Amino acid sequence: MVIRLLGFSLVLLGLSCYGATGGGLQLLDANIDLSKKTSLQRGAANFFNYCSGCHSLQYMRYNRIAEDLDLDESLVKANFMFVGDKIGNAVKVSMEPEDAKSWFGVQPPDLSVISRVRGADWLFSFLNGFYTESERPTGVNNLYFSQTSMPHVLWELEGYKKFINPSEDDQNSGIAFEIVVPGKLSQNEYQEFTRDIVSFLVYVGEPARLVRYKLGFWVIAFLFVLFIFAYLNKRAIWEDIK
Ligand code: HEC
Repeated sequence: MVIRLLGFSLVLLGLSCYGATGGGLQLLDANIDLSKKTSLQRGAANFFNYCSGCHSLQYMRYNRIAEDLDLDESLVKANFMFVGDKIGNAVKVSMEPEDAKSWFGVQPPDLSVISRVRGADWLFSFLNGFYTESERPTGVNNLYFSQTSMPHVLWELEGYKKFINPSEDDQNSGIAFEIVVPGKLSQNEYQEFTRDIVSFLVYVGEPARLVRYKLGFWVIAFLFVLFIFAYLNKRAIWEDIK
């Protein structure tokens, strides 16, 4: 019975993995760590430098970011906010929706809960999945979001790469890209850079997670102290009995 249940859940797991990757295309492993505050802080800075011109975070307020990520409010004001914005406001874009539509054909979506919809691995893959395709209006396509109208906004950092293994059956050999125009960052540095953004977006999707981490630490610390007292107590009681 147990074996059968196990087998069944393995099948389900397999099916859900297949569905999540959209036809067997392997996602990259985002490998994020939300307990690394510095990664979240860098991710926030990267987001406001490279993404917030087009994407809003309408469920996130600037002062919440400052508080959760241990950033000074004056720093957030100077670096993340538009002139005239208030620290208690949600993160908006300055672009008019009609302009966005005429430039990109679609409005860049709000990214408040994108990490919950797509998952960290997909976001990481997407940011690492742009490759040149001259027929596209943006000059690029994306391996994980075919025909996307988002331009490769990080090209200066990553450079441009070419897709050199278009055969989908040939999964074992992996998917290979070849850098055709080098960027400012090495491949590893670019992955770190995008990993930080993904961490930040995962935090934005569920800010309570950071609170849970903090709480978790104190719960464990409390149990540990309790254990010491319980142990001393037990020793004292047994001493009398012996
Ligand atoms: C120049 C404008 C622009 C900038 C800057 C930009 N994007 Fe986009 N982004 C778009 C557009 C347009 C789309 C919609 C793509 C589509 O639907 O084909 C999009 C889509 C996305 C999606 C996919 C959402 C979905 O539908 O699942 C993600 C994720 C995303 N962007 C993340 C980012 C991140 C992270 C950055 C910063 C590194 C960024 N974007 C910077 C224009 C932009």
